[in-house]
Amino acid sequence: MNTTSPNNETYGIEDTSFKAAGGFAGIQKLVKSFYTFIDQLPGAKTIRSMHAQDLSLIDDKLTHFLCYWLGGPRHYRDKYGPISIPRVHSHLVINKAERDAWLLCMERAIELQPYKASFKIYLLEQLAVPAERIRVTSKAGRNQGIRAPDSLST
Ligand code: HEM
Repeated sequence: MNTTSPNNETYGIEDTSFKAAGGFAGIQKLVKSFYTFIDQLPGAKTIRSMHAQDLSLIDDKLTHFLCYWLGGPRHYRDKYGPISIPRVHSHLVINKAERDAWLLCMERAIELQPYKASFKIYLLEQLAVPAERIRVTSKAGRNQGIRAPDSLST
């Protein structure tokens, strides 16, 4: 996931993405905004119903996971143990509509953050990769006979 943007900004190397996202505090704000959209956007109703009523635990989990995933500290593993992203979603029915609703909430949340324009584009493009992997390894994807490797683990 190394990318040099048109402005010569390099992300995806060591903790460059973590820093571009504002470190832990910046990612915390992004995730808070993301779950507000999950909770409130009419187009996210189906995926909202897959989540628990109280979003505070998943908010904390996604914040810690994204810190690690963007090259920051491995706090997710320290706090919650190892995780395989496709596996934790494998019981869910995620088709293209659900994947795109998740990405739309993320796009709206990213838009509100004080990130560089190049990082906003980069981050959404990178998140689309695991989102698609999740779709094909979810219950919906497996029922359609799509196969993909399981390699998104801490
Ligand atoms: C493709 C669309 C996605 C949907 C519809 C979705 C939905 C969900 C739901 C419903 C849960 C709670 C599962 C449960 O408790 O039973 C969950 C957990 C989680 N998701 Fe997603 N998700 C998606 C994509 C992603 C992506 C792209 C990432 C990471 C880049 C991610 C990271 C996480 C994490 C870290 C958890 C917490 C797992 C745990 O420790 O229990 N999700 N997701």
